[in-house]
Amino acid sequence: MQIIDGKKISAQIKEEIAAEVKEIVASGGRRPNLVGVLVGHDGGSESYMASKTKACEQCGFDSSLIRFDDDVTQEQLIAKIQELNNDKGVDGFIVQLPLPKHIDEEAVIEAIDYRKDVDGFHPVNVGRMMIGLPCFKPATPSGIVMLLERYGIDTRGKHCVVLGRSNIVGKPIANMLMQKAQPGNCTVTVCHSATPNIKEMCLQADILIAALGSPEFVKEDMVKEGAVVIDVGTTRVEDSTRERGWRLCGDVDFEHVAPKCSYITPVPGGVGPMTIVSLMHNTLLAATGRAY
Ligand code: GUN
Repeated sequence: MQIIDGKKISAQIKEEIAAEVKEIVASGGRRPNLVGVLVGHDGGSESYMASKTKACEQCGFDSSLIRFDDDVTQEQLIAKIQELNNDKGVDGFIVQLPLPKHIDEEAVIEAIDYRKDVDGFHPVNVGRMMIGLPCFKPATPSGIVMLLERYGIDTRGKHCVVLGRSNIVGKPIANMLMQKAQPGNCTVTVCHSATPNIKEMCLQADILIAALGSPEFVKEDMVKEGAVVIDVGTTRVEDSTRERGWRLCGDVDFEHVAPKCSYITPVPGGVGPMTIVSLMHNTLLAATGRAY
């Protein structure tokens, strides 16, 4: 069993990106510029944003954060998006999700110029990805694909079972791994809350991707011997032994599942750090005009 070290791979990729930025700057170009838009003060969103800002520094990017209070109107938020769309100094920007209930998330995403949508959430990017055209791909599934690639895990002809059908992870990773590509060329099954026989499905997986947000959902009797297990779960659970009172918990019962796997990602330190690196990668593509 090998633990997939997302922390190590993400550090390597950040160094590669930083080296390219150094070359760009040395030849008279400007640094890639990523802007984050954050509404409210949700703990998870605050820490995502802090990690993104730190990663920008490590990669040599310029970055800034635009904050709004919870009571911002949809119109005010969209006005800011239009400003960012038209700002030639901004290569890409993200609006941190989730947004407060009174704001229509889809309307906000659609207001973003898809050429600056480094989250890969705009319907144009989603559609282009679906039919295999160049586009911004969403960060978490891209991070998973990078891990499979860097660990030389053969995906061709493998049965990949995805747990969860979110727009951010489940749907796009299923799509990316079914593409005629390497990594890719998988036979993909997507399971969700209405799937009656999830355990039987999981047992057929050569590659199991758990992205349902249900702590330790995947138990050892659901995993085939030698499977590759990718854990996307990042639920905060109470933990009085930690100073901050919580810890991150994955969707996989790591302790009991790991011995059966050929490869497995830990939580934290697996997919999480890769998500941020994918965003950096997309921002570099935006800045260098390589996305399309
Ligand atoms: N919320 C959780 N993950 C993400 C992400 O990758 N991008 C944005 N914008 N919001 C998120």
